Amino acid sequence: MSADAPSPANYSPGLEGVVAGETAVSTVEDGLKYRGYSVGELCEKATFDEVAHLLLHGDLPTAKELSAFQARVTTARRIPEPVKQLYPNVPKWAYPLDALRTAVSMVSLFDPDAADNTHEANVRKAERLLGQMPVMVADQYRISKGLQPVMARPELGHSANFLYMLRGTEPTPEEVRALDVSLILYAEHEFNASTFTARVIVSTQSDLHSAIVGAIGALKGPLHGGANEKVMDVVRAAGGPDAAEKWTLDALARKERIMGFGHRVYKAGDVRAGILKGYARAAAITPDLQKWETTADIIERVMGEQKKMYPNLDWPAGRLYHAMDLEIPLYTPMFAMSRIAGWAAHVIEQTDHNRLIRPRSIYTGEPTRSVKPIGERG
Ligand code: CMC
Repeated sequence: MSADAPSPANYSPGLEGVVAGETAVSTVEDGLKYRGYSVGELCEKATFDEVAHLLLHGDLPTAKELSAFQARVTTARRIPEPVKQLYPNVPKWAYPLDALRTAVSMVSLFDPDAADNTHEANVRKAERLLGQMPVMVADQYRISKGLQPVMARPELGHSANFLYMLRGTEPTPEEVRALDVSLILYAEHEFNASTFTARVIVSTQSDLHSAIVGAIGALKGPLHGGANEKVMDVVRAAGGPDAAEKWTLDALARKERIMGFGHRVYKAGDVRAGILKGYARAAAITPDLQKWETTADIIERVMGEQKKMYPNLDWPAGRLYHAMDLEIPLYTPMFAMSRIAGWAAHVIEQTDHNRLIRPRSIYTGEPTRSVKPIGERG
């Protein structure tokens, strides 16, 4: 029995432009919207916690729904003791996103709904991961620095609690708002690589935790979430305002990729980058940070002039987090502790309307040949 040969006419390398499914979670058409709300308006009028509710439950919460949601999420911040014991055993040099991926996998062993793929169980698991992932990131960070973990504070929202657990001190309202806006912008993005990975995994009737572990793996690469950890390398390598133009022209002449620029879907610019730029600028309060902002502006101008290529969200996010004095290896884990909301919304949608995702490939290997006895090979 054989399958029909796929048509090369249907082939698009990297699936560029291919419609691979339906979703009601978000759209990038005519400006990024989450469940019908523009991200710009969400950044102005909502918190990350409200947006996470929107993504997981389909609409913005009422005040009563929000407090019930936050109560469930904050209860999950008490992660199981054996998972906590993982961090002292993780090598100090471990990359935080790898430690997060391992912790998410481990916590699945203790989740009472782990094997239950019903809509209700998937929502419960998603809410728990939303509470657990920032705790995992903060605990692993502190233990790797030889510091005691800090207890979560149930009265604090997602961003404020994360900054508090990371540093052990109260963040300022400006820092909380800036981080919250960045996490709103990171929360969801249609069929990006990590979300698509998650959907492929659950399309086999696998479970939510397996999908999130796979999604974290896909997020790690520098062409996707890993780009936010490369932004300050780019800005610093450019050397400062006097050297930035020449450095950018030389890097482009060497055919280097400038991390934080370009996008598979947004060819005329990423609305998210424009929204977060003001927060990165406002956070740059020292002369040194302002120097890097000016350097970033010059790189941005040259990229537009030379390549018609514009910043993506990672460009201001990497600078904002640096200005907030957060260490670079935390940036992609922070992306993950936001995108968990979008990933889980897609996992739930895929599971609720499932059809196995199994595309075809164009064969480029050897023509049909016969197997020679081992003594006749070579
Ligand atoms: N700097 C310089 N040249 C670039 C860049 C860049 N950032 N991005 C693409 N190009 C060039 C690329 O070299 C190629 O040139 P040529 O045709 O001469 O070979 C051309 O543009 C097309 O590149 P592509 O890789 O085929 O385009 P794509 O649509 O697959 O790329 C991308 C999308 C995001 C992978 C790419 O723009 C890139 O590598 N950007 C840098 C990494 C980055 O910032 N990633 C974050 C993406 S958005 C948020 C997220 O997911 O985290």
